[in-house]
Amino acid sequence: MSDRSLLVVVLAAGEGTRMKSRLPKVLHKVAGRTMLHHVLAATRAAGATRTAVVVGPGREDVAAEAMRIVPDAQVFVQTEQLGTAHAVLAARAALEQGADDVLVLYADTPLVRPETLARLRAPLAEGAAVAALGFEPEDPTGYGRLVTSGDELVAIREEKDATAAEKAVRFCNAGLMALSGKDALSILDRIGNANSKGEYYLTDAVEIARADGRSAVAAKADVDEVAGVNSRIQLAEAEAILQKRLRLSAMAEGVTLIAPETVFFSADTVLGRDVIVEPNVVFGPGVTVGDDVVIHAFCHLEGAQLAPGVSIGPYARLRPGTRLDEGVRIGNFVETKAAHIESGAKVNHLSYVGDAHVGAGANLGAGTITCNYDGFFKYRTEIGAGAFIGVNSALVAPVTIGAGAYVGTGAVITSDVPEDALAIARSRQVVKEGWAKDFRAARADAKKKG
Ligand code: UD1
Ligand code: CA
Repeated sequence: MSDRSLLVVVLAAGEGTRMKSRLPKVLHKVAGRTMLHHVLAATRAAGATRTAVVVGPGREDVAAEAMRIVPDAQVFVQTEQLGTAHAVLAARAALEQGADDVLVLYADTPLVRPETLARLRAPLAEGAAVAALGFEPEDPTGYGRLVTSGDELVAIREEKDATAAEKAVRFCNAGLMALSGKDALSILDRIGNANSKGEYYLTDAVEIARADGRSAVAAKADVDEVAGVNSRIQLAEAEAILQKRLRLSAMAEGVTLIAPETVFFSADTVLGRDVIVEPNVVFGPGVTVGDDVVIHAFCHLEGAQLAPGVSIGPYARLRPGTRLDEGVRIGNFVETKAAHIESGAKVNHLSYVGDAHVGAGANLGAGTITCNYDGFFKYRTEIGAGAFIGVNSALVAPVTIGAGAYVGTGAVITSDVPEDALAIARSRQVVKEGWAKDFRAARADAKKKG
């Protein structure tokens, strides 16, 4: 990584009206994290020394998300939207602090990779004043065009201001730009708004740098990396691109995906070696999976840690705070939440285990339910190592089942069960010989009489 200091300026002041959302555009999520988070993760990985985020007026939510990801980020408010150069200048105080390199990104372009940012920035170390990132979209309509001459970038022309010849250029401006730190302010301050939109165009930096006798260059990126998100349709397109990337990287790292196109990851999903994921599995945020885990079909996981050798599903739902130690088995139609289940324990069928701790080797029979909520508060259930819970048992928390204890089938357990004890908590079975036969006869008789 470069030892040059890097100031990142992320533009997040756009209204995002085409999203038709109460939520600001850059807080919409792709693969479980906000677009702003994606951009800040990429800039952090690319070695950002300082981060400035430009937000619209009253956008405390966007500012808070920026600070959550980069706690020392500087947030600037662009009070009026007068163009991309004007937006960058909202971060003037950060630019004045100086940096070797300045990188400008849009928060609604979430798929850019750190390697690409490094490539974009590299020419600055060789003396270039400006570097822009270009790409070749299928349809260039609406994009600024990169006018080049050999390796040099001559100008970026916005479509509305372009000549017919310039419009024919297919090499388009992705919007990301690198500027030499010592020249950035002087260049930006000379950008005017004498153009068809009356906006301060960041893209004018190219011609100003060249007029100073400095060089400007273009780097090229894949379409899939610079796709901007302006609508829900483009949000879904970005999701598809990212899911494809996450699936390929999981497989490259030694995970078997039987039907990759049916498995959905979060950007932060961590998977070990020799994990097998069957079809139709969704990984929400915060999931870590150890080596040799098997995830059967139709599972949903979120905020869960799975140690090596765990097996879950089919149809298991692991909710936040789930921690499964080595070799734990979670079977079909089992839901867990805030539950630590120790090694070798089994919850194989139709159960809910919430706010609970289950000791090693315990066996929870089909239909075991922790009754953790009384409508007001949540309570914990403790199940000791090696305990055996008979099927269809309700464990009314707070309650402790001692290690090695046995709970008989169909129990409603409301008080603690000591270690190695047997607890039976169900009503006695009553048998009345011939009762059903007599009952049917009496009813048939009554019906005949009307
Ligand atoms: C811009 C580029 C264009 C490029 C295109 C790629 C300029 C002048 N043009 O055009 O060459 O092909 O992006 O998508 O830079 N923003 C602010 N404050 C402002 C204006 C914009 O924060 O005052 C933010 C927007 O939220 C958005 C980004 O900057 O994320 C780009 O602005 P937008 O107006 O969409 O630029 P384009 O016209 O699409
Ligand atoms: Ca745009």
